[in-house]
Amino acid sequence: MFAILLQISAIVTVSTVHAKYSVSTNTILLNDGNRMPILSLGTFGKTNIADKVVKTAVIEAIEAGYRQIDTAAAYKNEEFIGEAIADVINRGIVTREELWITTKLHPEVGSREGVLPALRDSLKKLKIDCVDLFLIHSPDNLGGIPEHDYLSVWKGMEDAKKLNLARSIGVSNFNSTHINRILATSEIIPATNEIEVNPTYTNLELVAYCQSLNITVLSYAPFGFMVPRPFSLVPVVSTFEEPILVQLAQKYGKMPSQIVIRYLIDRGTIPIPRSVNASRMRLNIDVFDFQLTPEEIILINELNQNVKVYYFEGKRFLAFVEYFGLL
Ligand SMILES: NC(=O)c1ccc[n+]([C@@H]2O[C@H](COP(=O)([O-])OP(=O)(O)OC[C@H]3O[C@@H](n4cnc5c(N)ncnc54)[C@H](OP(=O)(O)O)[C@@H]3O)[C@@H](O)[C@H]2O)c1
Ligand SMILES: *[C@@H]1O[C@H](CO)[C@@H](O)[C@H](O)[C@H]1NC(C)=O
Ligand SMILES: *[C@@H]1O[C@H](CO)[C@@H](O)[C@H](O)[C@H]1NC(C)=O
Ligand SMILES: *[C@@H]1O[C@H](CO)[C@@H](O)[C@H](O)[C@H]1NC(C)=O
Repeated sequence: MFAILLQISAIVTVSTVHAKYSVSTNTILLNDGNRMPILSLGTFGKTNIADKVVKTAVIEAIEAGYRQIDTAAAYKNEEFIGEAIADVINRGIVTREELWITTKLHPEVGSREGVLPALRDSLKKLKIDCVDLFLIHSPDNLGGIPEHDYLSVWKGMEDAKKLNLARSIGVSNFNSTHINRILATSEIIPATNEIEVNPTYTNLELVAYCQSLNITVLSYAPFGFMVPRPFSLVPVVSTFEEPILVQLAQKYGKMPSQIVIRYLIDRGTIPIPRSVNASRMRLNIDVFDFQLTPEEIILINELNQNVKVYYFEGKRFLAFVEYFGLL
């Protein structure tokens, strides 16, 4: 029954998700009625150099047309992003209302009581009164704290929405079991699930499951193993020279990297490419003048290697924590 449902929703989503997209505003309608931009800027990098690169990168991105920024308390960069937001608003490049700021709860918060104080700390660093999207970073106890319970944490997320400290609330790194437990015990359905989706980890079932519930998927690590992953201990390598990407790039007069971003948009998800290089940022957002066909999406799905870039267990997790300086 479940498998059949997944197959049906996988077919249906290709044709129905577009109905929720607004082509004129490049936004998608969430299940809580809010509209969010369909492309985000990733900001996760080495924490010890965040102060030197993130502020400039965010300013350049907003000047280039990005309207959504993806950060997290754990990235230790909210303060610099706050400076960038203040700068572009003060200079009249955008208004606060035109921006969509997404942040994530610190993984060391494991219960309802911790949520509002942690969110207020993020808001202070970001220099804003309300975040547009607030996510539970992971259902797993990444901080290794006692009595961690994501269902209790979700109650705190609901508190944040009711107090208008977060316009939309959602989750990240949740699988279908985690989502089902939330649905069974909570008042508010998550608006989004931010998970790894890219050509080397296509994540078809989980994306389809979320979309069948009207939960919008944000695709992190959109370039998968097609870009260098110095912290990775797995031997997966792919490149932007994959023949199908090169062929589609020629067809549409684009770069293979732009085909990858468009692939994620045409699957009805919101990609979160990260770059601190202004010319790449401009390439990554220049994807709104073409669209892939359902057949082309299926061909790119064939690049799946079913290996995650970001894996939160064992040695692979430790190597990642150490590389980025997360402790
Ligand atoms: N919720 C979670 O648990 C979670 C986990 C992982 C990531 N995320 C979010 O998702 C974002 C994206 O993931 P990611 O940082 O792994 O990003 P990604 O966008 O898949 O890869 C970033 C890398 O690709 C390079 N790059 C960017 N555009 C390029 C282009 N057009 N051509 C060639 N190389 C290009 C960047 O280098 P340059 O900077 O030099 O261009 C950087 O090294 C993160 O920053 C974070 O905001 C969330
Ligand atoms: C998803 O949520 C939006 C906003 O509440 C609603 O308009 C739309 O009909 C929902 N779509 C589905 C398939 O339930
Ligand atoms: C989701 O992850 C949990 C571990 O956090 C695991 O117990 C469960 O089996 C997973 N569910 C699916 C559908 O993969
Ligand atoms: C920035 O991106 C461009 C591609 O658009 C590339 O040619 C250049 O080498 C990159 N610069 C750095 C410092 O990586």
